[in-house]
Parts: sequence; structure tokens; C-alpha cells
Amino acid sequence: MAKATTRFVCSACGAVYPKWEGRCEACGEWNTVVEEAIPLAPGIAHGGKAKAGGTRRIPFVALAGSAEPPPRTPSGIVELDRVLGGGLVPSSAVLLGGDPGIGKSTLLLQAAAKIADSGRRVLYISGEESIEQVRLRARRLGVADSRLELAAAINLRDIVASLEGASDAALVVIDSIQTMWLDTIESAPGTVSQVRACGFELIRLAKAGRFAVVLVGHVTKDGSLAGPRVLEHMVDAVLHFEGDRGHQFRILRGVKNRFGPTDEIGVFEMTETGLAEVPNPSALFLAERRGNVSGSAVFAGLEGTRPVLVEVQCLLSPNPGGAPRRSVIGWDSGRLSMLLAVLETRCGLKLNASDVYLNIAGGLRIGEPAADLAVAAAVVSAAADVPTDPAMVFFGEVGLSGEVRQVAQAESRLKEAQKLGFAAACLPRRVARGNRPLFAPEGLALHEIGHLGDLVARLAGKRSAGKEGGPDA
Ligand code: TYD
Ligand code: MG
Repeated sequence: MAKATTRFVCSACGAVYPKWEGRCEACGEWNTVVEEAIPLAPGIAHGGKAKAGGTRRIPFVALAGSAEPPPRTPSGIVELDRVLGGGLVPSSAVLLGGDPGIGKSTLLLQAAAKIADSGRRVLYISGEESIEQVRLRARRLGVADSRLELAAAINLRDIVASLEGASDAALVVIDSIQTMWLDTIESAPGTVSQVRACGFELIRLAKAGRFAVVLVGHVTKDGSLAGPRVLEHMVDAVLHFEGDRGHQFRILRGVKNRFGPTDEIGVFEMTETGLAEVPNPSALFLAERRGNVSGSAVFAGLEGTRPVLVEVQCLLSPNPGGAPRRSVIGWDSGRLSMLLAVLETRCGLKLNASDVYLNIAGGLRIGEPAADLAVAAAVVSAAADVPTDPAMVFFGEVGLSGEVRQVAQAESRLKEAQKLGFAAACLPRRVARGNRPLFAPEGLALHEIGHLGDLVARLAGKRSAGKEGGPDA
């Protein structure tokens, strides 16, 4: 009976080791491997015994066959439904991740109440807050009269027993998976074994029943609470709720989705009475922009299928000695270094004696290379101390030789700029594909450029013109 009773599990990715390791080989994180009791029996909630009586042959079928699109239960919250791909799919499992306090419970209570009010059965199980706390929140959100059914519980055996008779439910919300606890596993709630086993049971129930299950998972860097990443491969969709608690915007992002797109975002604003949908995020992101300051450029970006305009801000401050700082919020720092190198080497801009601070206003995080041109415009504008045209948007990818490259969906970006009252766009030189004519937006002057040097010449040229011609630029 010298059988090991503990094992070592990475709290970031769930990899299992027989002995302690300083660094997890699977995900490369340091100090995330923690000791845990080995679960007594897998597959527990049903008495713990594996089915006796041997195996069953699985049938193989032809690939060709009927496949209907899955039915959906729309939540009625357009921004959420867009990210889900049209609504919740029955029998599916969704993981909603995000920092504590970002608004996950708020979003789910609002969505759950809406679905319940459309006549479907919705069960909301809170492991973190008491019934009174959830009721208070519901009152604040104006959904206190909803027909949603509420329970405060953490014992998974009880929850499973209660849900087995709930096949008429459309949605079950578990808030949060880290508070759920299965008595057959010795480790504490929130550990990798507990999160994995509880998640597995709940997902199995959803597949067997007809309801969708939404699991809330806090993402923490703290090793004592297992990240819900161990569940990511088990669920059908992973949504991240992100944002800066200092800002009121919240962005819901699809990271994985077996039933829909993964690049869509939903934009919300946290208000006194809960999360409000933001149907026109560009107007919101540009609301506090001040027109005539240097170091600012508007990027015509694309989030999923949706064009979004955001302000890119750059500040240069002199750093006479030492290694200059490059600090980036909302964009990739490697990409910024590349762009600065291109500006120095190909366009002759002197930046190595300056600290560079780059910020995407409003708390949005941009992943598109199409932002290169807008970032370059902000940097050049800051370096030349000349504002960019406040009525102009920028987009385009920049290559290592300084060439400005085509990006996808120029037309929708231009249309969004036009809709928001912009008068000009600076973009890569367009080439017609096939015999489709190039889009000609009304009232929008297009400045097509082939090389980053053209942009530098434009902005720097403005500066010398201003210095010679007027009293002040
Ligand atoms: P919550 O949904 O509890 O976050 P999570 O479940 O992700 O931990 O949201 C908590 C924050 O949201 C809290 O700091 C207060 C704020 N809030 C509002 O600003 N307005 C509201 O109507 C509600 C319900 C919460
Ligand atoms: Mg919560």
C-alpha cells in the first residue's frame, strides 16, 4: 500500500507531475506547481463505481448526412448574442472568464433574467454570494421581478441531484466554478482537481439534459486559486470579460467557440444600474478626444466583423542617458519596437534619445497589424510636435522596409469613418481586385500612401509650413 496519495498539479494549466517542479514544463510558468490530494474515485457523482459489464461497440457513420444548424436561445442582449454567435446553444457549456469585480455576475444576472422573462426556465446557482446579496443586486439592476430561480449552493453532489430533474431548464448559471466543491475530492474548492472534476460533472449534465450551462471562472495570477484554464478544452465556448476597472467600458471577447465566431466583441458600459449595451463603440471611444494635440491619431480598426474607431496616443519624453523606455498599453510592445526601428532606419526619425509611451485610449486592446499606420502617425506627430488632421482616420500595415501594406476590409473601415463624420482617411494604396470597382466614399478624402516616408513627409512638412507661414502652428 505504498500508493501515492498526493500529486503535483500546475495551477495555471493543469499539467500533472509525480513530484514537485519549480517550472511547469507544459506551460512554462514558474512556481505554479502545487501539491494536491489524488481524487479518491473519478466520475463520482453517481456513487463512484465504474459501470460493470464490459464494453460496448461504438457505431461509425458516414460523414455525409444531415446536419442542422444548432437551435439557439437568444439572451436578448444583442452584444452578448453577437459574441455567442446568435444565442446560447442547448446542451452546450460556456466558460465566462475575467478578473474578479469586472462584472461577470452582473452580466449573467441581467442575461439570465431576460431569458427567464421570455418564458424559459433559468436556474442561477450562486456559490459566492448569499440569496440576499443576489436579490439586492437584482433590485439594483431593475430585474427583481424576474421569474428566474435562485439558489445559493456549493456542494456539487446536491447541485447535480437537483439539476438531474431540471431537463426543462434552458439555462443554468454556476457562479463561480471556483467555489464548487465535490466531497469525493479532498482538496479545497478552487484547486485544479476540484475545478476540473466539478466542471466535468456540470458539462456532462448539460450534454445529457437540454440546458446550456454557463460557468463563471475568475482569472487570477495567484497560485492558490486554480485558473479556470483547465476547463478551456472541455467547454464549447470560452468568453473573456475584460476591461480596466478604472474605465467604465467592458469588452466581451469570444476566445473559443464551437458554435460561432471567435473574433467578435461585445461592448458594454458599467453604469449605476448595471451593464448597458454600447451599440456604437466608436462614438464612445472617441468621446473624450481632444482635437488639436500632437501625438494622437484615430485608428479605423476592425473587431470581428465590426469596425471600431479608437484613438492612439503617443507621448515622447527626452531620455538623455541610459536605455530609452518603451511603454505600451493596449497594443503589442514587440510591434511598437519594430515600428520605431522602421521609423528610425527607413524614415530617418531620431527616437533613440526619447522614452516612448503608447496608449490606446478607452481601455481597448488592439491585436491588428492594421494599426501600424495609426501608431506611426501618432509617433511621428509626437516627434514633430504637429497634430494630425483631427478629421482623419488611419489604417494600414507597415512592413520592415517601410512599405505600407493592404489590410482586410478597407471598405467597412471607411464607411465607419464616414458615418462618424470624419472627412479624410490615410490608407495603403488600393488596388482593384477583379472587376469590382474600388469603393468611393462620399465626403471622405482618401490619401493613399505607399511608404511610411510619405507620412513622415506629410506631417513634418506641415510643421515647416506652419513655422514659415503662420504666427503659430
Ligand atoms: P460583479 O458583477 O460582482 O463582478 P464579478 O462577478 O466579475 O466579480 O461586478 C462588480 C462591480 O461592478 C462592483 O465593483 C460594482 C460594479 N457595479 C456597478 O457599477 N453597477 C451595478 O449596477 C452593479 C450591479 C455593479
Ligand atoms: Mg461575481
